[in-house]
Amino acid sequence: MTHNLRSRLSSVDWDFAGNYSESRFSAIHFHPCRFASQVPATLIGLLSKPGDLILDPFSGSGTTLVEAQRLGRTSVGIDLNPIAVLASKAKTIDKPVSVIASGVSTLKHYATLQLSRQINTLRATVEPKIPNSVQIAKWYVPTVAEQLGRLWSLIQSLDAENRVIAECAFSAILLSVCRETRHWGYVCDNTMPQSNRQGDVLNEFCRALERLDRAYRDRDAEIAASGRSESIKKATVIGGDAATVLSTYPKASVDLVLTSPPYFGVCDYIKAQRLSMEWFGITIEELRLKEIGARSKRHRGEALKEYVDGLTAVFTATRRCMKTGAYMALVIGESAKRAGVLSELRTMFQNLGFSLKMEINRTVSAQRRLAPSILGEHLFILSR
Ligand SMILES: C[S@@+](CC[C@H](N)C(=O)[O-])C[C@H]1O[C@@H](n2cnc3c(N)ncnc32)[C@H](O)[C@@H]1O
Repeated sequence: MTHNLRSRLSSVDWDFAGNYSESRFSAIHFHPCRFASQVPATLIGLLSKPGDLILDPFSGSGTTLVEAQRLGRTSVGIDLNPIAVLASKAKTIDKPVSVIASGVSTLKHYATLQLSRQINTLRATVEPKIPNSVQIAKWYVPTVAEQLGRLWSLIQSLDAENRVIAECAFSAILLSVCRETRHWGYVCDNTMPQSNRQGDVLNEFCRALERLDRAYRDRDAEIAASGRSESIKKATVIGGDAATVLSTYPKASVDLVLTSPPYFGVCDYIKAQRLSMEWFGITIEELRLKEIGARSKRHRGEALKEYVDGLTAVFTATRRCMKTGAYMALVIGESAKRAGVLSELRTMFQNLGFSLKMEINRTVSAQRRLAPSILGEHLFILSR
């Protein structure tokens, strides 16, 4: 690492406590412990160049991919969680907003025709369809259930691209229209809701679509303002276990790895999307077995060893895909309760043959803290 790069990395305000605004894409879909978008944006700017290929083996809600696309880099993201994959695909559609917007406005029009009360009696044509896997009476009051069923039915009839956008918006509103009004952790743990909120499905759905539309507009405006004449770069999103997916990915092809692996015992990423998983008919238990560091596994005798073994498999496969000398930047949450994890990771990287270039601590402000036990984050910069 050159002296110049080291000093540029050292001079960044990693807490982003000043006037740094988040990407509009960050608010599109709930995902616990996601990146503040400024972190990947800054790292991509400093550690790669336009046209490079960036890999995030734990891409979650797609923050790395969104920032890579905005900055003119091609990217690949992998995540075990199919709902995170859906949100990432919707956020990174590589078509200009002029093309996407007409689909979005047609979608809003159809949803209004099917769900709006006055018109409904005259024009509604779709029957509500609710998959058997949804615990409908538990999570939703009857009017909300009926509206969601109608919307779901409409979405199933769309073409592939509009369907990704519509499914993302549908999935994004479930928490805000369901009966549970306490912390999302109660849904995650499948606890009986204690309120009878009657969410406004049509309004929430249209607002989710508008948020997406505004985010695409911002992205396109920034790309245009950057003076780069190229088209929107491709972001490939792959669902599955990262070690398995990467074992067949082209060797020595990646210019930069940028990721935030699951923190040890802090979050249940799969269970956190329970409401969406039910609509999409995804079995939580099968996926949970492959989830690295899940909170629900933290009391197992071998939990820390299983966590390190899981990460070792992923980073062995990741290293194989990196070009010689390529950087890997990794952000990991720090919690006083899980002290010792960072030194386990340092040893793991050393054993895998990575060269540790720099370590940086960043404070996460109380407003931005997505898991209360995570007070700060640690940034490792390594190279192959
Ligand atoms: C800290 S989050 C990443 C958040 C992401 N940086 C963002 O901004 O949304 C860690 C991710 O690792 C994923 N994960 C856990 N086990 C995995 C595995 N075996 N293979 C791939 N992804 C996995 C989780 O689903 C979760 O989305």
